[in-house]
Amino acid sequence: MEKLIIQGGTPLIGSVEISGSKNSSLPILAAMLLCEGKTTVANLPHLQDVTTLLELLGSLGVELSIDENRYVEADTRTIHSLATPSELVKKMRASILVLGPMVSRFGEAKVSFPGGCAIGSRPVDLHIGGMESLGAEITIENGFIKASRRGRLRGATISLPFPSVGATENIIMAASLAEGTTRIKNPALEPEIVDLANCLNVWGANIRGAGTPTILIEGVPKMNGGFFRVMPDRIETATYLAAAAATGGKVRTRHVELSNIGSVLEKFRKTGGDLTHGTDWIEIDMQGKRPKAVDFTTGPHPGFPTDMQAQFTVVNSVAMGTASVRETIFENRLMQVQELRRMGAKIDLNGNLAVVTGVPKLTGARVVASDLRASAALVIAGIAAEGETTIDEIYHVDRGYECFEEKLHKLGAKITRLPD
Ligand code: UD1
Repeated sequence: MEKLIIQGGTPLIGSVEISGSKNSSLPILAAMLLCEGKTTVANLPHLQDVTTLLELLGSLGVELSIDENRYVEADTRTIHSLATPSELVKKMRASILVLGPMVSRFGEAKVSFPGGCAIGSRPVDLHIGGMESLGAEITIENGFIKASRRGRLRGATISLPFPSVGATENIIMAASLAEGTTRIKNPALEPEIVDLANCLNVWGANIRGAGTPTILIEGVPKMNGGFFRVMPDRIETATYLAAAAATGGKVRTRHVELSNIGSVLEKFRKTGGDLTHGTDWIEIDMQGKRPKAVDFTTGPHPGFPTDMQAQFTVVNSVAMGTASVRETIFENRLMQVQELRRMGAKIDLNGNLAVVTGVPKLTGARVVASDLRASAALVIAGIAAEGETTIDEIYHVDRGYECFEEKLHKLGAKITRLPD
């Protein structure tokens, strides 16, 4: 397995261009399956998860092409299979997002139970329940979810017991081609949901209220497709701000969408960093100082994103003072804590509550990356630490950060990837 070697102790300084959103790209790629005409998507990040979903679409027979601008064009007229290969689905939980579009448009889907990050049990009951509410018949056999329908799916009112991001996306996509009106109550409010709805509307759907407590979808008989540009990645943006905060640096993130990261910015402000912004950039300047410790609890949007918990825990690890970090979305998402302790972090762990007492300096160590965001956190810790850090199993980071080492390198990090 490849590893990263980091010589720490350098503040990150400079500017970094933010890529397209991973979590927006994945449902938008799945949504290509809904369209009869050609669809073109711009600003897709070059990431392992995106490649996996493109491979999955290709395995169904979707004709895909990429031009010199990295615009991806899809033509679904060549589809010859409605069963997804389990080796691709196991690589990534978001593969479940093809279920809704496939059963809604083609009347059938066979998707194996998904894999992905090891951050909790992550069931898919809300996805399955949503499809059933729209009239799909679902059976579970030998580790596969089989969905079918008689006639078109039918619009329904669906109240989600928890605002699951993926289930909201699957239901929106399936309902777009259903007969009649679908109301989703208590949907996820994440910006990626709004981006997906905007995209589907451009491609011919009729969706209102994305980003509000009720989403209304008037089913349409067909969608023609078109062009859509994926929004910037808010988690990547905040990850670079966290890297600046933890190293006492000054980093400007460019090509960002400010309105999407309010709750995180509020926490960055409390670190004592000087935050400034323009229409499409945000900058944090720590003026060489250690951050102040900041309490936070993760929650569904507009709460603090669970995808930033690990990185912000590192900021607290080198902060002045003590802060509590509570994870409420996933039951096993404080796995980076054990590795951070190897680097000298002072963290008491009690279930999903971590109490972090900042130390002036972490020290380099050999650590193992356990999932995507934990890997990013360890990289930040390695850059902030004194001495050398080796991070094993770094492949996780390629699932979610485009050109991570190159971008960090440009900001002054001393970071090298070594083959196994
Ligand atoms: C998405 C994001 C992921 C982020 C998460 C929460 C993508 C590709 N991934 O994941 O980066 O961390 O939102 O913001 O967009 N749950 C159920 N039953 C279900 C579905 C979910 O119990 O059917 C539970 C999960 O186990 C978890 C919680 O709901 O505890 C949140 O999951 P969900 O919002 O669905 O996250 P994902 O869509 O998987």
